[in-house]
Amino acid sequence: MSSVIATTAVRGRFLDIQNTVAQARDLHDQVRYVEDGLLLSENGKIKWFGPWQDGQAQLPPDLQVQHYPDQLIVPGFIDTHIHFPQTEMIGAYGEQLLEWLDTYTFPTEMQFADPAYAQKMAAFFVQELLKNGTTTALVFCTVHPQSVDALFEAAQQMQMRLIAGKVMMDRHAPEDLCDSAESAYQDSKQLIEKWHGKGRNLYAITPRFAPTSTPEQLARAGQLKAEYPDVYVHTHLSENKNEIAWVKELFPEQNGYLDVYHHYGLTGAKSVFAHCVHLEEHEWNCMHETDSAIAFCPTSNLFLGSGLFPLKKTWEKQVKVGLGTDIGAGTSFSQLQTINEAYKVQQLQGDKLSAFEALYHATLGGAKALELADKLGNFNLGKEADFVVLDLQPTALQQLRQSRAKGLEDSLFALMMMGDERNIHSTYIYGQCAYVKDHAA
Ligand code: GUN
Ligand code: ZN
Repeated sequence: MSSVIATTAVRGRFLDIQNTVAQARDLHDQVRYVEDGLLLSENGKIKWFGPWQDGQAQLPPDLQVQHYPDQLIVPGFIDTHIHFPQTEMIGAYGEQLLEWLDTYTFPTEMQFADPAYAQKMAAFFVQELLKNGTTTALVFCTVHPQSVDALFEAAQQMQMRLIAGKVMMDRHAPEDLCDSAESAYQDSKQLIEKWHGKGRNLYAITPRFAPTSTPEQLARAGQLKAEYPDVYVHTHLSENKNEIAWVKELFPEQNGYLDVYHHYGLTGAKSVFAHCVHLEEHEWNCMHETDSAIAFCPTSNLFLGSGLFPLKKTWEKQVKVGLGTDIGAGTSFSQLQTINEAYKVQQLQGDKLSAFEALYHATLGGAKALELADKLGNFNLGKEADFVVLDLQPTALQQLRQSRAKGLEDSLFALMMMGDERNIHSTYIYGQCAYVKDHAA
């Protein structure tokens, strides 16, 4: 398959974060800015990257160069937590997590029993990711295996690198949305065999959250992880105070919420826990010791009134963290909007999220959280050529603000505070242009 991918060359202003071992929060030393750069991609991978004047000699003689003199090119955004079946229910009024699930989420997810409906929504979802410059995501499907097929088929058509899985849920939800410990195990196993490592697709074992799985089902999830150590685990953790109290009631023998997952073998380097707003100290330590990752979902945490995520603590405790939109509790597919809200969440805690740190979390940091930093996250040679061409001034107000920008960092920060899908000029997947703003439906 890879041999048919066209060689492409893109010239423009490139910005990425080079660091491979993040210990210090100040990333200024790791910022790589190439004012007039060239990225050559071959078979979907970065074959050459650097200043145009050094690279132009590398170009095959008849290769057309796509030039973006006025834009800014950054690595593709990585969304480390999102629900594709919740696309249609963004902005559902009035409830916090547990009531929101019962009132809005479960009825919406029921529709995905119909494969045709799942396919229609998967196609919309993938387009929405591309429109927002998101090139990789870790995605919740529904309990229905056909929802996973629909999503992976849509991703495969665009050659996108997605990680996804079937929800495992055998209690505390409507009967039509429940599987069993055994069927969840069998269905997930079949989906792993069918999709994990096929093209760019990767599979995640996806128990919804501890309250909707029996101990038997969590044990089966752990069994799957032991049988397929290379697949991911993706679930929710410590999002809402009522949820946490409920987990403590349901699993009194465990030492808190995270210990439920840990007990069943579901922590580890390829485990991603969405939210983690209210972790206790011993849980932070467990996250670090098991090399588990967090998806920080600011628009969702604010929308559902869940709380303020302490981003600074991830640096102190050396816990991997990426950004998640958490659609449909989150209110935007845009990583720029997500950064905007993340900044405000830190402000409310007396902390500062810098533009370069935010870019890191949205790209290389997200890749690290997903254990994909050898393939994604910056323009290093050999990585997959997924990137976004950003338009810095799609509106009169942004034009005015950008004209007053005091250098690159200020310009990037203003983009992050004001930007959204209007700022996505083009999105490239595997070196190929997969979306252009003006020509999109
Ligand atoms: N916890 C369990 N399920 C969900 C969900 O669908 N969304 C969010 N935000 N939290 C959850
Ligand atoms: Zn979620």
